[in-house]
Amino acid sequence: MESDFGAAMFGSAFKAHAFPAYAALREKGPVTRVNLRSGEAIWFVTRYAEAVELLKDHDRFANDPANAMTEDEYAQLFQQATIGLTPEQQEFAAQTDEILSRNLLAIDPPDHSRLRRLVAIPFTPKFIEGLRPRIQSIADTLLDAAETRAQERGVREMELIDDFAYPLPLTVISEMLGIPPEDRDSFREWSQAAVSFTPADPANPEVTAKLIAFIAYLRQLVTVKRANPGEDLLSGLVLAEAEGDKLSENELLSMIFLLIVAGHETTVNLIGNGTLALFDHPEQFARLRQNPDFLKSAIEEMLRYYGPVEVSLSRWVRADTEFGGETMRRGEQIMALLASDNHDGGQFPNPEVFDVERTPNRHVAFGTGIHSCLGATLARLEGQIAFASLLSRMPDLALGVPRDDVQWRDATFLRGLTRLPVTF
Ligand code: HEM
Repeated sequence: MESDFGAAMFGSAFKAHAFPAYAALREKGPVTRVNLRSGEAIWFVTRYAEAVELLKDHDRFANDPANAMTEDEYAQLFQQATIGLTPEQQEFAAQTDEILSRNLLAIDPPDHSRLRRLVAIPFTPKFIEGLRPRIQSIADTLLDAAETRAQERGVREMELIDDFAYPLPLTVISEMLGIPPEDRDSFREWSQAAVSFTPADPANPEVTAKLIAFIAYLRQLVTVKRANPGEDLLSGLVLAEAEGDKLSENELLSMIFLLIVAGHETTVNLIGNGTLALFDHPEQFARLRQNPDFLKSAIEEMLRYYGPVEVSLSRWVRADTEFGGETMRRGEQIMALLASDNHDGGQFPNPEVFDVERTPNRHVAFGTGIHSCLGATLARLEGQIAFASLLSRMPDLALGVPRDDVQWRDATFLRGLTRLPVTF
């Protein structure tokens, strides 16, 4: 089945009305084909069962496009992506691609297994639980600051994203990695550039320039850690690189890049989108206030209902195959449309109902299979602390602007809000 919804490619306006559009796509079939201007196609998997199959079938689908095409085809793919750039920008884009394409989400076993093992320990439940007091203290400091500002101004309001949802995970991941506090302000611009990339329009010189600046910063950070290693995760990776056969310099830079971007661009949206879901369903908000024990299931429902990641990263068809009733050609691109998969009535009864007690709730907001989210335990803990703190300290929390003024960000892969003014 073909679709033309690729034109808007999940922009802000599309996201506001996406769920009925996804329901219509699911009615027609489990996968939909979107034609790109270059003449190529992207397949989107809109139903839950097929999405799980896609994400787990590493024999038929590769994360690294180089494993699904010849060298010439791969070179052509890159050329197409940089049409419209000046030769200098193309050179920059090639450098960026070479470095960032070695991240966990863009590689396959055995390299993927080797690199994931290197970062697994700090993300295990036991290790993450040890961060609880520090995460609580960061949340408390941010809410104290919001209270102080409210008292000074005489109005009990804040901008939930900037004042709380964004700095909380950014501080946590920066401390885990060992990134100096004074450097963190630049991240927003850089990492937003990284997530504003769209497959329909990859040749954006402004985005490339910001990514180059990001990589330059990462190189400098690695140099500092080499000279002065600490107890942090980044120092551990730098030491592993020094041992020679564990990871290359590009793999190291790619890893840090992914951990920074994935570590905060997503959890900010769990807090922002989850709060909006509560505002949109006042009776569920009241139930949660009365029964804080529902917090864990409420967070799973927020992840399902307005999940921070709209679409998985690309998979590539390794050899001509039949999938979801369609014939797919070697080298074609395919993605799980997670936002649609998580609203599939075949898996979730009454999928458009937001229910803070929903069980079972086996959503794919964190993906599944070998690339499933490394940071899921951390994100869940940050979510629990964020919402428990908001609910207990700000019992009158309410939306501070008309609902129509709340807008989704323009970002293909993510679902997040531009701003969320609240009163408390
Ligand atoms: C609510 C917050 C989060 C959500 C919804 C989320 C979602 C996801 C999803 C859907 C994937 C798989 C994508 C795919 O298969 O194409 C993924 C992978 C990943 N996530 Fe998260 N994530 C979150 C928070 C985090 C945090 C806090 C970190 C910490 C650094 C993190 C690190 C990663 C990494 C490294 C991968 C790649 C894993 C691999 O390829 O083996 N994420 N995440």
